[in-house]
Amino acid sequence: FSTTATHIQRNPAYSVLNSDDVSYFKSILGDSGVVQDEDRVAVANVDWMGKYRGASQLLLLPKSTTEVSKILSYCNSRRLAVVPQGGNTGLVGGSVPVYDEVIVSLVGMDKIISFDNVNGILTCEAGCVLENLSTFVENEGFIMPLDLGAKGSCHIGGNISTNAGGLRFIRYGSLHGNVLGLEVVLANGTVLDMLSTLRKDNTGYDLKHLFIARRNLGEILSAFEFMDHHCIDLAMKHLEGVQNPLPASPYKFYVLIETTGSDESYDKAKLEAFLLRSMEDGLVADGVIAQDISQASNFWRIREGISEASVKVGAVYKYDLSIPVEKLYDIVEEMRIRVEVLGYGHLGDGNLHLNILSSKYDESVLAQIEPFVYEWTSAQRGSISAEHGLGLMKAEKIHYSKSPEAVSLSMVS
Ligand code: MLT
Ligand code: ZN
Repeated sequence: FSTTATHIQRNPAYSVLNSDDVSYFKSILGDSGVVQDEDRVAVANVDWMGKYRGASQLLLLPKSTTEVSKILSYCNSRRLAVVPQGGNTGLVGGSVPVYDEVIVSLVGMDKIISFDNVNGILTCEAGCVLENLSTFVENEGFIMPLDLGAKGSCHIGGNISTNAGGLRFIRYGSLHGNVLGLEVVLANGTVLDMLSTLRKDNTGYDLKHLFIARRNLGEILSAFEFMDHHCIDLAMKHLEGVQNPLPASPYKFYVLIETTGSDESYDKAKLEAFLLRSMEDGLVADGVIAQDISQASNFWRIREGISEASVKVGAVYKYDLSIPVEKLYDIVEEMRIRVEVLGYGHLGDGNLHLNILSSKYDESVLAQIEPFVYEWTSAQRGSISAEHGLGLMKAEKIHYSKSPEAVSLSMVS
């Protein structure tokens, strides 16, 4: 077979393709999804440099996750070797067969499924060409965190599977850090649903407007924290030496924004302009900018001291949830009907800290909270543990955020 792979022996445990296999693939993909034409298969057998060449006889073109799952399940049971292929722009011979593997090309899975233009979350199929995704999000006023020379041909699935670095790494970091969720088909055909994408929905408080800060402050925004007035009241009551920077304010929500740029006067002017514009637009009712480090520390003391202030009440039931930002406060309001609640957290990450206050830890209080909070979060496809971990408290609750397949995979890995 391949001249470039002579140092690797074909594993005799793998079967050789036969006509029954081809008939089965036609039954699930139709004739157009099963390519045996020599010229077309030849193109898929070789990488773009002409350096690595396999000898596959069959190219499959699935159009859905279900089809990919059926292909892999069948190949697994028949012990047929498979190579997945995207844009075939790789430089290390990873996207072409070495011997006679069945080529499963994702070229037919190139649909953009949704775009959440509040949170900047794109959901798409693995076969989308990077440049098409860039053009799409740029038209929405966003940017892909990845750019590379092969963008006109490479697929996002291949980019993610290789954790491609590219030209924007210095600014946006690793691609994996930018991927929120995945739907994966394992080699045995099992579909692993880890698509924890947070979808847009317009019900509830319009907290999403606060997210406009992210776009306006862009590169200098370093923290975007929110707290409801219950948090401020509690902090003022229980924390020593802190002052409310907006003492006359009967406002419902507060946001603490921190910017960290390289030019102090430019950053300050940008923040001032943002605050002014937000007040003119009615997005922000009142605000104050820290004039020195000690004032800034006072602001942070209020935010960071909420946890400390809350334990002074007695018992605190803590829930650390990831929820679509538009719905972030709905659960606080729902719970407030039953119990005393604080709502605060890292708004920039869609991370709510739902704290329920009680004079003591009590089974009857817990029964009012759980499993409701977990069920509600799960229904939003949120996470029941955004940043605190599962621990003893949530070890048995993982199924609210992860599919049975993902849980069993973590057990064996
Ligand atoms: C915080 O953001 O303040 C911490 O995660 C602790 C907490 O949830 O209270
Ligand atoms: Zn936190």
